[in-house]
This record gives sequence, C-alpha cells and structure tokens, in this order.
Amino acid sequence: MGLLDGKVALVAGVANKRSIAWGIAKAFDREGAQLILPYQIERFKENLDKLSAELSKPPMTIQLDVADDTSLASLREAVSARYDALHILVHSVAHAKAEDMAARFLDTSRDGYHFAQDVSAYSLTALTRALHKPLAAAGRASVITMTHEGSVRVMPNYNVMGVAKAALEASVRYLAFDLGREGIRVNAISAGPVKTLAASGVKGISTALHSTVERAPIPENITTEDIGNAAVFLGSPWSERITGMVLYVDSGSHILGI
Ligand SMILES: NC(=O)c1ccc[n+]([C@@H]2O[C@H](COP(=O)([O-])OP(=O)(O)OC[C@H]3O[C@@H](n4cnc5c(N)ncnc54)[C@H](O)[C@@H]3O)[C@@H](O)[C@H]2O)c1
Repeated sequence: MGLLDGKVALVAGVANKRSIAWGIAKAFDREGAQLILPYQIERFKENLDKLSAELSKPPMTIQLDVADDTSLASLREAVSARYDALHILVHSVAHAKAEDMAARFLDTSRDGYHFAQDVSAYSLTALTRALHKPLAAAGRASVITMTHEGSVRVMPNYNVMGVAKAALEASVRYLAFDLGREGIRVNAISAGPVKTLAASGVKGISTALHSTVERAPIPENITTEDIGNAAVFLGSPWSERITGMVLYVDSGSHILGI
C-alpha cells in the first residue's frame, strides 16, 4: 500500500532525469499516485517519453507554458476532461534571464525583473487558479512549490531569482489563506543545491555544493530523492493540517549564522 494510492498528482517541471520534478514524480509513482506530467518544450517531451518507461503507470503528458494563459486554459480543459479531481499539484518551475543572474542585482533590467517574477513566482498563482476546480473537488488537496534560501538571505549570483523566490514564498502564504476553507493546503520546499539544468545557470553552484559538505549540520548534499520524499509527506494525509509553510530540505544549512 502506498501513501498516495488513489491520488492524482500533476508535477510540472520535468526537463530531464536530473530535474527535481522528476525526483518528485518517481517518489509519487512509488507511493501509488497517478501522474500528469506537463512539459515545456518538445525536447523535454522526448526526455519525458524515455523516462516514463521507469514509471509503474503511464503518465498523462501535455505541453505547458506557465507564462501563457491560453496554454494554462488548455491544461485546465485536458485535466478536467480526464479527471474529476486533482489531489496534488507540484510547481517546480523557474527561469530568469542569464544576464540578470550574472550581473549585480543593482543592474537588473525592468524586463528581466518582470520575466523572472512572471515565470518563477506568478506562475504558481496562475497554475493554481487554472486547476482550482479539480483541486477543490479533491476535498483535501495539496499544492507544493519549490523555493530556495536565496529568498531570505543574499546568495551571490542568485539576484533576481532570490527576489522572485521571496514573492513565491509570500504567494504560498496568501494562497494558503485563500484556499484553506476549500481544503486546499499550500506549502513550499526550500531545497539545498542540486546540479540540474536550472542550477547550471547560477554561477557558483559548485561552491554551494562544496559548502554544504563542509559546513552543513548534516555534511552531505541533498538528492532529488530527498526532495521527492518530502513532497510525498506534503502530498499525503500525514500533512493534512500543515499549510503556508516553507519546509527546508537542505541538510540543515539554513540554521547557520556564518
Ligand atoms: N537545483 C537547485 O539547486 C534548486 C534549489 C532550490 C530550488 N530549486 C527550484 O526547483 C525548481 C526546479 O528546478 P530544477 O533545479 O529541477 O531545474 P530544471 O531545469 O530541471 O527544472 C526547471 C523547470 O522549469 C520549467 N520551466 C521554465 N520556464 C517554464 C515555462 N515558461 N513554462 C513551463 N515550464 C517552464 C523547465 O521546463 C524545467 O522543467 C525551480 O523552481 C528551482 O528554482 C532548485
């Protein structure tokens, strides 16, 4: 018996086998969930088709651009046509322009700021709103997003993404307030560094990985499996009255003062 038996879970953000979303998808599959896996572009669909062979049940796949309302409306229609209820929604999506992560935060362009906020922060609200009906129909649903400590502390080179993550975490709290009466809880997982496609756009990821091993209370880097297991908890009945929270999965790095 799995912790997520009978649950339908949409996990957005699989680009390849290193994606945090893929770690979550595998953990959900292990626990019995039926998966819906959106992909952003055709190249990622090819990766997804190959990866899906590792799952116990074939997932539903659909193209999704979280910055495009037409694409979100198509997702809503496709999900509603197939399922009456959506029990878990995972938002594991972020993007910022490379130039805004390499330069000083001071030099962030207006356009780059809006882009990072739209794709990395507002998209949680847009996606949750698009899927509100099947989430509410689940009775007790769980929305989970991925964040990073750069929202509350300065991480060199994280810049505009740190500000987007601060907005994302505030969105978690406001969404949790709005949706709690409908039985929908909303939480974030704040992950330590993991070498993924998105992380390779952040200068200094190797230093961050090294620093965890040198300084974290648990001197080991985290894996996408660790994040998957935390997401299983947040998606399962064991977390039914937890909402508006940020759960750190970072080997304890965030408690350090130096
Ligand atoms: N890797 C880390 O060290 C780390 C640490 C903490 C938090 N996170 C967060 O985890 C999440 C997943 O990132 P990852 O590290 O797995 O990298 P990743 O590159 O594997 O995943 C990022 C995903 O965002 C998707 N995406 C970007 N723009 C999109 C759009 N317009 N529409 C739809 N999808 C879009 C991409 O297709 C990709 O699947 C992100 O929110 C990231 O900020 C990552």
